[in-house]
Amino acid sequence: MRMVDLQSQYVHIKKEIDEAIQEVLNSAAFINGPQVKAFADELATYLDVPHVIPCANGTDALQIALMGLGLKAGDEVIVPAFTYAAAIEVIVLLGMTPVLVDVDPDTFNIDAGQIEQTVSSRTKAIVVVHLFGQCCDMERVLNVANKYNLFVVEDNAQSLGATYTFSNRKTKKAGTIGHISTTSFFPTKPLGAYGDGGALITSDSKLAERVRCIANHGQKEKFHHRMIGCNSRLDTLQAAILRVKLRHIDTFTETRRQIALRYDEAFHSCTHIIPPYRASYSSHVYHQYTLRISNAERNDLKDYLHTKGIPSAVYYPLSIQEQTAFRVLVRTTQPVMREAARLSRSVLSIPIHSEMDDAVQNNIINAILGYGKKR
Ligand SMILES: Cc1ncc(COP(=O)(O)O)c(C=O)c1O
Repeated sequence: MRMVDLQSQYVHIKKEIDEAIQEVLNSAAFINGPQVKAFADELATYLDVPHVIPCANGTDALQIALMGLGLKAGDEVIVPAFTYAAAIEVIVLLGMTPVLVDVDPDTFNIDAGQIEQTVSSRTKAIVVVHLFGQCCDMERVLNVANKYNLFVVEDNAQSLGATYTFSNRKTKKAGTIGHISTTSFFPTKPLGAYGDGGALITSDSKLAERVRCIANHGQKEKFHHRMIGCNSRLDTLQAAILRVKLRHIDTFTETRRQIALRYDEAFHSCTHIIPPYRASYSSHVYHQYTLRISNAERNDLKDYLHTKGIPSAVYYPLSIQEQTAFRVLVRTTQPVMREAARLSRSVLSIPIHSEMDDAVQNNIINAILGYGKKR
């Protein structure tokens, strides 16, 4: 058993994938083949945005986004204290200071109510991360950003396909709300390639042109370098695969939602675990199905599941503040990011994917309920 069963998923869509790969092999257009633009256009249509700029991976996408916004060394960028490290890493690489904001213990996302108190005269942007499949409280994030004239970057590596609902009932897809968003096509992500890939998404035409240029060594015309850039391309094979997988994304998401519902029902009356919380303003695409279990029991449950052949994963075992690499580089307005630290000791993600059948899921449910009885 695996956290995500990409092998079975491949078997399910094999004919389409094989044809798409063969087409690239036949054309030998491995770099910037026509599939790259076709995929970007199709993703733009799916998200209902004018510009999708493919790149090599989700980490590059974040770096290019910050460069495209014109952020400079010495600027401060607000980020959540409980997240994957990529955003913090690129902020530091660009000579800027990550300013940590604690997270909401229910949604795991940045606590929008705590952002304003961290804004300083050097703050230029907020990078929000839509963690595990659910959007941040974007309306509140935007209110602070508008008040202090800050850019909003959405790291949407984990929640492609989720929808945010504003208080006036207007809805938008995750990754189409801030000034720019980034995503990753790492194989296990909601839209996963068969290797690395990423993209930037924006409605701002000038910004789109800048980031396209940065991702291409700062050139628009070949050998005319207008600005400092990097080499970050989505390769044609991955684009061809992603075109196929984009056609299935909503079906895959719906299957994960059904699995999540069955988990919810099964764990409803369990006293030792808390199933994922659903924010009223966001739909959930269940990139992860993440339980909360008291500190002492989380590792014990993980070990117990392992003995039953059931994988589980801790995303993430340390908060950003506790990471050796970042500890001295981040700024915080409180000595300890309490909720982030607490979550890193209590979260446990269990398998969820588009190919999971009832028998496999029942096995996981019974093991977790069995652990409850064992206590
Ligand atoms: C929230 C988040 N941001 C960024 C990234 C980086 O993406 P990549 O691995 O494609 O560089 C990831 C990947 O795990 C992620 O989960």
